[in-house]
Amino acid sequence: MNNQDIINEVRRKSDIVEIIGEKIPLEKRGKNYFGVCPFHDDTNPSMSVSSEKQIYTCFSCHATGNVFTFLMNYEHKEFNEVLHDLAKRVGITVNSFAAPKIPTKYKDWYEIYDLAVKYYQNNLMSKDGEEARIYLKNRSIDANTIKEFSLGYALSGRDSLTRLLTKKGYSLDLLNKVGITSNDYDIYHLRLMFPLHDLSGKVIGFSGRIITNSKQNKYLNTKETELFKKGSLLYHYHIAKEAVRVSKSVIIMEGFMDIIRASSINVKNTVATMGTALTVEHIKNIKRLSNNIILCFDGDEAGVKATLAAGEMFSKENIEVKVIALTNNDDPDTYILKNGEEAFRNLIDNAIYFSDFKIKNLSRNRNFTSSEDKANYIHEVLEETIKITDPIRIEIILKDLAKKFEIGYNTLEKSFYELQATKITPTIVVADKKNTKEDKRNKYQKASYIIIYYMLNKQNIIDLVEKEHLVFPTEDLRALESEIVYFYHKYGFINVADFYTYLTPKISLVNLLAEILQLDLKTDLKEDDVKAYFKVIKEYNFNAQIKYLEEKISNSTDFNEQLKYAEEIRKLRIGEKK
Ligand code: GTP
Ligand code: MN
Repeated sequence: MNNQDIINEVRRKSDIVEIIGEKIPLEKRGKNYFGVCPFHDDTNPSMSVSSEKQIYTCFSCHATGNVFTFLMNYEHKEFNEVLHDLAKRVGITVNSFAAPKIPTKYKDWYEIYDLAVKYYQNNLMSKDGEEARIYLKNRSIDANTIKEFSLGYALSGRDSLTRLLTKKGYSLDLLNKVGITSNDYDIYHLRLMFPLHDLSGKVIGFSGRIITNSKQNKYLNTKETELFKKGSLLYHYHIAKEAVRVSKSVIIMEGFMDIIRASSINVKNTVATMGTALTVEHIKNIKRLSNNIILCFDGDEAGVKATLAAGEMFSKENIEVKVIALTNNDDPDTYILKNGEEAFRNLIDNAIYFSDFKIKNLSRNRNFTSSEDKANYIHEVLEETIKITDPIRIEIILKDLAKKFEIGYNTLEKSFYELQATKITPTIVVADKKNTKEDKRNKYQKASYIIIYYMLNKQNIIDLVEKEHLVFPTEDLRALESEIVYFYHKYGFINVADFYTYLTPKISLVNLLAEILQLDLKTDLKEDDVKAYFKVIKEYNFNAQIKYLEEKISNSTDFNEQLKYAEEIRKLRIGEKK
């Protein structure tokens, strides 16, 4: 047996109803079992466990997965630990090669960081931690928040932590290497300590903040190590990962304190860089959480600049982010302190599109005295507007412009189309306005969900999707489909529970899968129904192709080229009739 076979074998022998049932009371209702979901704050039995599919799904927070992911999240364990636990339970030998290896090389590192967290936490609560406690109190950080973020305090001693750790048997060499000590002495003195977690939630370093007005750097970070890389780390990612499931969006902020404050009002779908600009690596990790991305940077000049830079980076990735533009030099921390939860949630709900933010920003520091200044401005706005795909938004912007400068709408519209014709515009995935509720799904999406649902249950549907070259209407759906097809061909079978094990690293796809599985459809599917759903999806493909060609025609100035596209449309239409 290869590794994947062993993993699947362990999963198959570990009955999910039995195992979850040992942790939370389950009650049978119909063919499924229900219990109170342990992954969000609730008293209603919103988690369903399917004996048939061997998966669980929470209808409220959308937590979902198989027996492995349940235990990983419930017991805060790594995959291979859970695999070993379960293997032992069902009597399967898992040799070390069977589990995806966590490099044991770093076992000591993690132990050291965890000990340091505890040490700093104890300091904060000790007599010598009083000054830090007062500092936190003055900033309205309560005991719960201190605990949640494992905040601590470094005392003045030259080598207190170093001595503690060497006494436990860790060498000075190693302590220097992992960034806990420097030249054999403690690095942090009289600083408030923020543990830094990697994307999976393990502590891999610290940031220490001064608590008095001193000339030192405000924050001091662990040096770059094999585990701590400033350019890819995102503060709070391991928590945001869970919160994004419910909120369906991720908010990027600038500072630790912003994240901590937002968390105190229960806004937990937030991440921050380590005070650096966003990197491609950051963006990759953020995109794994959600395509609905909201920037909420500081309300100062630097914050505006950072917002513009970050928004452009996401545009390059074909994502139009949304923006919460704070003002008056507020940052999320001070804004929430002054205005409270409801006001901040209002800001989130009313976040504006990045292009609107950019356009607004173009008029700053301009007085429009000369006609040249006005015309330049209008051209800059048009340059932005052609990137927008939604015709309604385009019209609103053009109408505003026409009104503002008292020029004819037709003149503007003409300039707009002329400019558009000179550019090839990428399609931008637009952040959703609100949660995509089921009733808002259009028929194409519904049909796609149903087909994907059955691809996971009936292998002949996979064959059919491949044979007919079905193209699903959104990027996410296409990605999920190709993962299903990949899994099926690689392992020669498909079932939801094993597919989960495979898909788990791709969080946004897992969330989509959860949404699809909530359809909980009957097991039998009539051939006529399949045909009908295929037809709907193909209709989408057809319309999209026609629309694409029509745009080509209207963007082209070359008559022969236009004829060529018209001919393609004609052929498509004939093919459709057949
Ligand atoms: P407060 O000033 O306590 O509200 O903290 P903050 O987290 O809001 O910090 P701020 O907005 O000033 O800076 C944003 C982020 O930049 C911080 O969270 C740090 O990650 C980083 N940063 C700020 N100052 C320093 C510094 O002196 N050194 C380093 N390495 N990073 C810093
Ligand atoms: Mn701040």
